[in-house]
Amino acid sequence: LDTRATGRLVLRATPGSTAFNGGASTPTAGYNQAYLGPTVVMQNGDLAAEVQNGLDEAITTHWHGLLVPGEHDGGPQQAIEPGAAWNPDLTIAQDPATVWYHTHMHGRIPEQVYFGLAGVIHLTDGQDDARGLPSTYGMDDLTLVLQDRRFDSSGRMIYDPSMMDIMHGFAGNRMLINGQAGATAVVPHGIVRLRLLNGSNARNYTLFMDDARPMHLVATDGGFLPAPVALDVLRLSPGERAEVLVDFSSGGAPVMMSDPGQAYGVLQFATDSTLSARITRLPDQLDGAPEDLSGTEAVTRQVSLDMGMGGMMMGGGGFAINGRPFDMRRIDFEVALGSVERWQIRSTMVAHPFHVHGVRFRVLTENGGPPRPENTGWKDTVLVPGEAEILARFDKPANREMPFMFHCHILEHENAGMMGQFTVA
Ligand code: C2O
Ligand code: CU
Ligand code: CU
Repeated sequence: LDTRATGRLVLRATPGSTAFNGGASTPTAGYNQAYLGPTVVMQNGDLAAEVQNGLDEAITTHWHGLLVPGEHDGGPQQAIEPGAAWNPDLTIAQDPATVWYHTHMHGRIPEQVYFGLAGVIHLTDGQDDARGLPSTYGMDDLTLVLQDRRFDSSGRMIYDPSMMDIMHGFAGNRMLINGQAGATAVVPHGIVRLRLLNGSNARNYTLFMDDARPMHLVATDGGFLPAPVALDVLRLSPGERAEVLVDFSSGGAPVMMSDPGQAYGVLQFATDSTLSARITRLPDQLDGAPEDLSGTEAVTRQVSLDMGMGGMMMGGGGFAINGRPFDMRRIDFEVALGSVERWQIRSTMVAHPFHVHGVRFRVLTENGGPPRPENTGWKDTVLVPGEAEILARFDKPANREMPFMFHCHILEHENAGMMGQFTVA
């Protein structure tokens, strides 16, 4: 769905029914289709968006990774009732990136995302040829939404979290790529760009190619790196995106796998020499220049991602940030517009993927050391193993009525209270 000529975007949340892989059909929901939404192509400038709600329950639509003011951000305060529409003005001025959109309806986010209310956005500046990057959509530029889903024996997709599932996040027993199980990606004998989104509720991936061919990381959540970085394994936690180049010029039928040690297949590739390979060598340099914000911070804050066993057993949830479970009426932080802050984040019990709305940030440290290669560029979501420090400049305003969120992107954790909100003024 290309918005560049019209400057308009209409998304309609639509009920549907999907028979995944020929199994029993599951009631699903998507944007403009039965499951997930279209890949939306955008460029910098003004975009008039409309989100219509054709479902029988309220939703919101958040632009995860777009830098827009709080009132257009689609957080939990911006509910769209059944039959209603929401018209955010998206004034976009940021580096090209792969970002995404999804519902953020508090109380319902895990189910609503799980059953399909999410999609990918390509924010482009039309300069990929000059960068030497593949950009033919669906040919040498593939968008891959990674989701694990749970299926029962009839092939119906189910969401029935137990207390343990909420503690660890809900995991599936089958991989879907763009809503398809057992799919094969057919690629030309050349360099192929994979835009990976972890759209799972809770699962982390540690991706690698089964024939050990490297993945060359070219972009993280918020834009390009200065140069490709060759990786044997790529970590991707819920909410994160990564763009990698893979060289298929030698052909073959490799499988992208996850979790070395207890490996399972994520996506099968097939190479087809009749497809034209437009790009046959890796670019040496890219024009990404993640700004070094170190030393410019005005404020340091602590963010503790809390999970309490005791609270769980009492039925109180136990999910909180800095000891306080999410409250839509409470503002947790007040940030000065244009200022740089350092946030020191600490995970308890498990590694939590931490996301901040309204900014892109740099990862300064990870468990006291330098960040992994995946975390060296612009980020908006980062897996916090034990501790991490991030630096961000807060350039977009958000008021008390329509604040920005910060939260764990394990949707079961966020929904159970591991979320806070802040203003920028
Ligand atoms: Cu991707 Cu607050 O969300
Ligand atoms: Cu977000
Ligand atoms: Cu979490």
